[in-house]
Formats: sequence, C-alpha cells, structure tokens
Amino acid sequence: MIRSTIIAEVRGRRVWDSRARPTVEAEVVLAGGARGRAIAPAGASRGAGEAVELRDGGPRLSGLDVRHAVASIEGPIRQALLGMDAELLEGVDRRLLEIDGTPDLARLGGNATVAVSMAVAHAAAAAAGMPLWQWLATLAGTEPLLPLPEIQIFGGGAHAGRRVDIQDFLVVCPNAGDLAEALDRTAAVYHAAGELLAKLGRLYGVADEGGFWPAFGRNEEGLELLVRAIEAAGFVPGEDVAICLDIAASEWGRKGRYRLACDGRELDSDGLAELLLQWVARYPIVSLEDPFAEDDPAAFARLRAALPRPVQIVGDDLLVTDAARVQAAARRGACTTVLLKPNQRGTLSGTLAAWQAAREAGLGGIASARSGESEDVTICHLAVGWGIPQIKVGAMARGERTAKWNELLRLAERRPHLPFAGDRGLQLRSVSR
Ligand code: PGA
Ligand code: ZN
Repeated sequence: MIRSTIIAEVRGRRVWDSRARPTVEAEVVLAGGARGRAIAPAGASRGAGEAVELRDGGPRLSGLDVRHAVASIEGPIRQALLGMDAELLEGVDRRLLEIDGTPDLARLGGNATVAVSMAVAHAAAAAAGMPLWQWLATLAGTEPLLPLPEIQIFGGGAHAGRRVDIQDFLVVCPNAGDLAEALDRTAAVYHAAGELLAKLGRLYGVADEGGFWPAFGRNEEGLELLVRAIEAAGFVPGEDVAICLDIAASEWGRKGRYRLACDGRELDSDGLAELLLQWVARYPIVSLEDPFAEDDPAAFARLRAALPRPVQIVGDDLLVTDAARVQAAARRGACTTVLLKPNQRGTLSGTLAAWQAAREAGLGGIASARSGESEDVTICHLAVGWGIPQIKVGAMARGERTAKWNELLRLAERRPHLPFAGDRGLQLRSVSR
C-alpha cells in the first residue's frame, strides 16, 4: 500500500504580495489527501548572497512577473517530487537543490523552492494531525518557544522612498510578561508616534511594513521621536520599551563609504561606528541590525568590541541565512545574532541549518518576514517550533503583518503554555571574541 505521506500532486500558482507584485504560491497534496500551501515573500533590501528570486524580466509588470517560477513548480519540481515522502523534508529540500544545480537556486528560483519546501512541511504536518510548529519541533528535536517580538514603528530606507536612511525603527518590550502584553504596549507606542508625527506635520503615510513613513530632516529625529512616543504612551524608555534599529547599511554603503543622504554627509566605517556609538550612549538602543554593509564585516567586529554596554548586533545581508557565513561571522566576532529569512536560503532545511549553526556558535536568532509579504504565517511556526527566541514581521498595521501577530496570539493560547522568550530572547550577553 502506498504511504499516505507520499507526494501525489504539486501545483504552482501566481498570487499577489503586499506591494501589488506577483509572487509564487505552492500547493502540495499527499496520497492520503492531506494538503499544504505556502506563499513566497519578497525582499526589497536584499543581500548579494541570497538565493535568487526568479523574475521574468521583460516589459510586463516592470519585469517582476513570476510565470517562470510558477512554471518551475509545475514542471521540473513537480516531476522530481512526485512519489517522494513529505515526512522526509531534508530529502525533499536536497532534491530541489540537486535538480536546480546552481549554488543560489538561479534556475528554479529560490521563490519557487521556498514556497514548495514550506508547502511540503504544511502537508506533512496536516497528515500527522499536528500544527506546523509542533511537526517542525518534532522533526528537528527543538524546544518550542514563543518568541519576543521586535515591532516596527517607523519605516525608512528602501521601504519608504529612501526619505530616511535607517530602514527600521523598531521597539521591543524586554520585561513584558507575555506576548499579548508586548503587543499592547507596542500598539500604544505606535499610536503615540503617529500622533506626534501628525502634529509635527511629518507624517507621509505607512511604509511597506506598516510602520509610519516619516519625513524626518535627520536620521536621529527618528530616535528622538521614538523616545518621546514611548514616554507619551506612559512607558519607561529602555525598561518597558527599548529600541532596535535595522540600519540596512548595504543599501547606502559599500567599500567602507557610507552616504547618509538624510543627514547630508558621507562617513567611513569608523565614522559610522562613532555615530552609532553616540546613538547607543544617548538612546535606549538594545539591537543594531546590519550596522555596516555586507562587504564590511571587520567593521561589525570593531563596533562590537567598542560597545560600552551589551547591544545585540544582528546580521541580515551579512549572513543571508547561510550556515557557513554564520560560522565565519561567529569566528570573527562580527555578530551576536542571526536574522533568519527562509527565502534568503530557498529551503526550510537550509534555514534550519543556519539556525543550528548559530546556536552551536552561541549566537541568538530572529525569525524574520520580508518587506513584501502575504497572509502566509509559516514564519510564526518556524520561530515557535525551532525555538527561535525573537521574531520581526513589521509593524502592527497592514493585514499581512497582523496575520502574523494574530497567529502568534493563537499559538500563545495553547495549554500547557509554550514558554515565552521574554528578555532572554535578546542576545545581550557578549559572545566570544
Ligand atoms: P527586506 O527588509 O525584506 O526588504 O529585505 C527586511 C530587512 O531588511 O530585515
Ligand atoms: Zn534587515
């Protein structure tokens, strides 16, 4: 008799993301009737080492259509996966890499493979009668955990017409008792920040990830306003609500030169480090993501060594969810924490490998959505199932963002309770240098 978890059908579908751009959905049906479905997200500020997002090119939809990626799913991927066992996810992911044959999934498209990899996991979990997070935890032997959320208040950089250079001004509530409390506090700060911006006449609207799109005259204004918003919402900055920044410096820096258009100045690596150290001294910043460009790892390590107090240093474009890069960065003391974006690697197994490499090296982790998203909530289940202690999916506005926060609230209802990462989620202790 044929096993019920054998892959019996694989389909691709062209659907839409939160930037009104086409993206790829994969649907997998198993022999026993279980189904899984998942949608690939899309980044705007991408690292050079990411899996290739296959776009059609040509005149239609600014070249961003995904008919080729959908065809990858319906053609070679379907052919290769029919008859494979969905329970053996690593084997499925290995097969995807094999049939692609390039190191960065350039032929099939990382957008096609990540959607398929996630859909296979959803189908296998459905066949096992388990929520996805539980199936993933069982498979990987990990301890499930509800992650500490980092939530965007202001959006900038490539997500907001480059009006400010810093891409994300986020908040984290280290001493919140649970996820619901962290979200309650953040909502209050979000509204206070919006009112302040409106009063100052500096509110454009909302950016790609739902944070306010501000018209700041200087990058530092974002920090000043965020502190005022935290206070206006009745919280103690740094205690109840702290600040995280995604500098996303690869967007405006390379070869050690950093052009801060909003501040009208250009800095070298040491100059940018000096500026960030001033901000760390003046504001309750607990996390800095991509403080330098991806071609400047030595600057990451120098900043870490110079920090006067523990601040999490997160590698996104620098590490691109790649196990080997995570190991190298850990060796040189560049980061305390790895950002984990499944579509940077193109498979769930590759994403898990990056997280396992991080843990082995004593680094923390943040599960992350992309700036182009959908109603897909797979990222929440990865974070919970694999015990990734932090999560970042944008702001508390826009449906593709609230889909994730609301899914996490559902997962938080489970009895017995899943442990909440709380402030242990932040990687504030230093790792070996
Ligand atoms: P992206 O932004 O999805 O546009 O890359 C998110 C991030 O930089 O963390
Ligand atoms: Zn980033």
